Amino acid sequence: DDTKAGVKGLVDAGVVNIPRTFIRPPGEIAEELTTHQGKLQVPVIDLDGIRYNKLEDIVDQVRAASETWGFFQVINHGVPLHLMEEMIEGVHKFNEQDVEVKKPFYTREPTRNVRFNSNFDLYHSRTASWRDTLAIFTSGTKSLEPNELPKVCRDTIMEYIKEVSKLGETLFEILSMALGLKPEYLKDMGCFNIYGVACNYYPHCPQPELTLGAKRHSDPSFLTILLQDQIGGLQVFYENQWIDVNPISGGLVVNLGDFLQVISNDKLKSVDHRVAANVHATSRVSVACFFTGHATETQKPFGPIKELISEENRPVYREFLVGEYFSKYFSKELEGKSAGLKQFEI
Ligand code: SIN
Ligand code: FE2
Repeated sequence: DDTKAGVKGLVDAGVVNIPRTFIRPPGEIAEELTTHQGKLQVPVIDLDGIRYNKLEDIVDQVRAASETWGFFQVINHGVPLHLMEEMIEGVHKFNEQDVEVKKPFYTREPTRNVRFNSNFDLYHSRTASWRDTLAIFTSGTKSLEPNELPKVCRDTIMEYIKEVSKLGETLFEILSMALGLKPEYLKDMGCFNIYGVACNYYPHCPQPELTLGAKRHSDPSFLTILLQDQIGGLQVFYENQWIDVNPISGGLVVNLGDFLQVISNDKLKSVDHRVAANVHATSRVSVACFFTGHATETQKPFGPIKELISEENRPVYREFLVGEYFSKYFSKELEGKSAGLKQFEI
């Protein structure tokens, strides 16, 4: 941490035995990997059909995926492919530039909108993850200004957030319909807004059997739209197995976060996932856009949607403030569902 060179700095320094802080409990990774069958795949949903009267069919597919996997991949989603490529390239460029240029961004200061570090939960954790992250907040104590962003990827990030917002708007309409609500319902509720963007960089790991790229967790969001490159490593916990979310060219991964599980009163699922340490020589890159509503600004409480509650379907969760949820989530170790959702069960 002191060198401000991150996990990449360790790799560049030629580390062959990973520092002890990264090592997971003995056997954990290998044991869990052997349960993986390699057959099941996260559903892939073609959004092109929206343009020619396939909307109902798409709503059904999204509902089915959201009630079980909590994950799906979308193709023909409208985010320009060149922008996805530029975004991945931009994250490489940021991380692969001189350490001195990256240093000013290295911080854990919560008031900064742009923070580069490894492991936001480092000081509350037993083990660290083999990745570095450039975290961007669109509206912290003040709105994000483009000049706060690193020069090498500034324009790309601004443009990317804009395009992914449009896709998010469409997905919230589909999810509203999947819940039997009017299309604008979730947006009107205030779920729709990209608050955080995590640009993750997973350098090659010399001992991938001992550590993880990202520990098991569910997301503190309503919805997350994730861009990943073609390297792979993301795994979702489904039917007691870790299933690889295989990269598909031009596709984006969508996963539901804890807040959507709460407001849908457990109808839609926020599912645990993790990232295996990168075995490849090339660094893996992913960019996660978190839709959390206006996280820090509003005092609006969120709870199970009234229309989804009845005598037979009583509220499973109490109301919460996004800010309250965040302070709980970020003051603990990133470790499975216990980090968030459970604390709001009634
Ligand atoms: C995450 O869920 O924290 C990152 C996912 C990924 O890098 O694929
Ligand atoms: Fe995640």
